[in-house]
Amino acid sequence: MNTNHIGQPHARVDGRAKVSGSAQYAADFNQPGQAYAVIVGASIGLGRLTELDTEAAQRVPGVLAVLTHQNTPKLAYAPHKGFIDPAHGERLHVLQDDRVHFYGQPVAVVVAQTLDQAEHAATLLRIGYAAQTPVCDPLDPRAEAVVPEAGREPGPHAADRVRGDPDAALTAAAVSIDAHYDAARENHVPIEPNATVAAWEGERLTLWSKSQFVVNEQAEIAAILGLPAANIRVVCPFIGGAFGTSLRTWPHVTLAAVAARVVGRPVKLVLSRRQTFHLGGHRPRTVQRVALSSTPDGRLTAIVHEGSGETSRYEQFAEALTAVTPFLYSCPNVRTRYRLVPLDISTPTYMRGPGEATGVFALECAMDELAHALEMDPLELRRRNEPGLDEGMQLPFSSRSMLACYERGADAFGWSRRTLAPGSMRDGRLRIGWGMACASYPVFHGQASARVRLLADGTAEVEAAASDMGPGTYTSITQIAAETLALPLERVRFSLGNSDFPPTPPHGGSMTLASVGSAVRAACLAALDQRRETGHGSGIIEASATAGPDAAVHGRFSMHAFGAVFVEVAIDPDVGTIRVRRVVGAYGAGRIVNPRLAASQCTGGMVGGIGMALMERTALDPRDGRPVNAHMADYLVPVNLDIQGLEAHFVDEVDPHVNELGVKGLGEIALVGVAPAIANAVFHATGKRVRELPIRIEHLVEH
Ligand code: MOS
Repeated sequence: MNTNHIGQPHARVDGRAKVSGSAQYAADFNQPGQAYAVIVGASIGLGRLTELDTEAAQRVPGVLAVLTHQNTPKLAYAPHKGFIDPAHGERLHVLQDDRVHFYGQPVAVVVAQTLDQAEHAATLLRIGYAAQTPVCDPLDPRAEAVVPEAGREPGPHAADRVRGDPDAALTAAAVSIDAHYDAARENHVPIEPNATVAAWEGERLTLWSKSQFVVNEQAEIAAILGLPAANIRVVCPFIGGAFGTSLRTWPHVTLAAVAARVVGRPVKLVLSRRQTFHLGGHRPRTVQRVALSSTPDGRLTAIVHEGSGETSRYEQFAEALTAVTPFLYSCPNVRTRYRLVPLDISTPTYMRGPGEATGVFALECAMDELAHALEMDPLELRRRNEPGLDEGMQLPFSSRSMLACYERGADAFGWSRRTLAPGSMRDGRLRIGWGMACASYPVFHGQASARVRLLADGTAEVEAAASDMGPGTYTSITQIAAETLALPLERVRFSLGNSDFPPTPPHGGSMTLASVGSAVRAACLAALDQRRETGHGSGIIEASATAGPDAAVHGRFSMHAFGAVFVEVAIDPDVGTIRVRRVVGAYGAGRIVNPRLAASQCTGGMVGGIGMALMERTALDPRDGRPVNAHMADYLVPVNLDIQGLEAHFVDEVDPHVNELGVKGLGEIALVGVAPAIANAVFHATGKRVRELPIRIEHLVEH
């Protein structure tokens, strides 16, 4: 009986359910007597409603209700800030007044017996506005940067950090570069749109709702409706991709719950693809400046990294844009600066390596620019600046395998065959470029709980409120439980995605395996203890446990996963098309519980990185802030034809400090480093430095 599961490349335990169609996603939970709700969004970017005539809509057969700010019950909106909600500002209060803060903000909800009826009636509303011109571009002269409230404290969102005298060092340096970078607003565009089915039984509400954080959705809806959390249950066993868009509880969940209460029937509300572009958060547009200087032999003497990200006017969404900069390299003089630019848009949110992905894009392109100025191999430049400790925090790393990642990645890629001069590598008429960049993402570990039942038939049931949006949480947690209980994998059933289960932190920030895994392990150990105490074969044993980070240990170390990403691009010099032929990533991410799923997750992240580098951009109409490409025809993401060789390697890394499992977390780090490696490869192929994402044909063709 093999019970060594950790480290084994098991196939997904939920794979059969997914490919056979038996896995149920939020919108699959149809309820008897269910009605359908459709959100009507504002067609202006800023202003007030002056008229809302719902008469024609109400006359459509099958229409049960038309909710507007004029007839929607006043909601409690009690204070509640979940871990993933912006710490400063106040969430949008939906259908509570006549103000319009951003394009597409819900101004009405039509509920009908069928979806067709609701959609048709939604087109019949007569809405008048007093419109103002919104400010939607952070570079608009009317836009003003502010110090983020979250940045007044030290930490990943710190507004200002300095060591040494970087500005003086820059002026005095033998070699320096100074450049600006611009990364586009992006949307998550998972296959599954945000969706909720809401059903009331008396004062109790069940929400089958797409969520990466069911216990927070429960708490948030309880606060909004003014109900005890115990009255609300959120269920979400499967997620069709999310990438951060379902961490927060967005207004459609509230609207589904309110609509169901008003019409006295279960209500299904699914955002249209178009609506997901402004009602489910987005990666904020960022503008950054990085200045670097070094000695002639490539020792960094100064790093200046200044960046700002857009936010809404009603909330401050802060991300870790400059967080990596103080510790990625050894450098005596470092200054970082982070600002927010409030705009007339909906609040951005976390998306695929939030903060790090865009911040590292600027820093790692700048490192490539410095290597070019030094006429030095960019990998060699990085090797020369490898730090012995986190110089920002003045703490040792719990583990840092960056040099091993350089070696492993460069070997696998064949980096030593690269020629230095831009434009020097060719394949026939195609220009070949080889670029690289570093990746880093913090180790997050949140307090989590889990429950285990040992049944008389020799099987075990494990429960935690966690989610699995695709990384393979069902499988990796089952492996941890089965190994701890010394059971074959098939005898353990892990259930997640239900707010009745023991609470867990958000399924984001790459913290699920460390957090939920540690709790499940602790619960399994507690169950085994209990069985030992009560004697064998005495029937059902149930044990619960809560586990969290060891604060004393976490305070003594700087904890991050690291990686190195190598990319080959082929560019057609006549038409400017860019093909990513190869991506090789090498990662030091602690213990890898399932190498097959880990590789799948990292190659998935690389695909996201290719999208960020070359395709993804949500363009806003400056007149009204409307996302003009809010559909899959014009919001480009990589498809199979865009993807060629992707390879993920994991260096052996034993980290005794992060947690007992030795797990650092994967997922976000797979996005980090890909876009700059591609941008650097484009430069190597063409000699053209593109400092704007996504890099497009028009950047490369001659004007
Ligand atoms: Mo991830 S952006 O924390 O879902």
